[in-house]
Amino acid sequence: MSSHPQPSQRITVRKLLQMKSEAEKIVCLTAYDVSFAKLLDDAGVDVVLVGDSLGMVIQGLENTLPVSMNDMVYHSRCVANGLKRALLMVDMPFMSHITPEIALQNAGRLMKESGAHIVKLEGGSEQREVVSALTSNGIPVCAHLGLQPQRVHKLGGYRVQGREEEAAEHMLEEASILQQSGADALLLECVPAELATKISQTVSIPVIGIGAGVDVDGQVLVLQDVLGITPGRAPKFSHNFMAGADSIQAAIGLYVDAVKAKQFPQQEHIF
Ligand code: KIV
Repeated sequence: MSSHPQPSQRITVRKLLQMKSEAEKIVCLTAYDVSFAKLLDDAGVDVVLVGDSLGMVIQGLENTLPVSMNDMVYHSRCVANGLKRALLMVDMPFMSHITPEIALQNAGRLMKESGAHIVKLEGGSEQREVVSALTSNGIPVCAHLGLQPQRVHKLGGYRVQGREEEAAEHMLEEASILQQSGADALLLECVPAELATKISQTVSIPVIGIGAGVDVDGQVLVLQDVLGITPGRAPKFSHNFMAGADSIQAAIGLYVDAVKAKQFPQQEHIF
């Protein structure tokens, strides 16, 4: 019998499904370099996301639109070097998945050149062919619904999505379509908690939320928000875990524990 050695405890896409079925919360946090990647891995973060938020928190840009494929490849490679256990999720930047062919080339780069285990892409049912092309070629996909920061100009700002009944129904349908197209996970950003709960109960894939209430399958935050170093007003859905911690390691540990124990997010973080 042939054997394919795996790092003993590596979190996989299958493991995320199992965690959903066993109601174990998935802890996800962003990182952009090897030092923080190691800290997150050691603290028990299950999924490390190299988000295109790096445009804002690392590069100091106004939004995520200018982030390039080369930026994503570079930072993901740095992060991959620090991970032993966590699943590495990497964002596909703006305009990098506008056709299935372009998406395959770019997601292929993230898998081959930076060691990504799963790619994340913003968009709804218009992405079904892209999701299907990627997943049928062995590239796991996390879809991203709700607030999609790459559409900030179209949306007219960073706003909660799915408040009205029609919009909520539409998002529920989009989630099912993306699952049927092959998506392995779904991220919901800034969605009323009631709707997010309904979506996570409807789809069988894991749903990771940011500003989506406590009753989804996992939580994600931007590292800088967790460490309380985001300039200006922190987003309502975030929490500074450095308050009450005496080190960065301790703060990340508090975040992991709070998510696992369903103590984060609290009512004050929810829409
Ligand atoms: O880019 C990012 O960091 C993200 C999170 C906010 C979920 O997509």
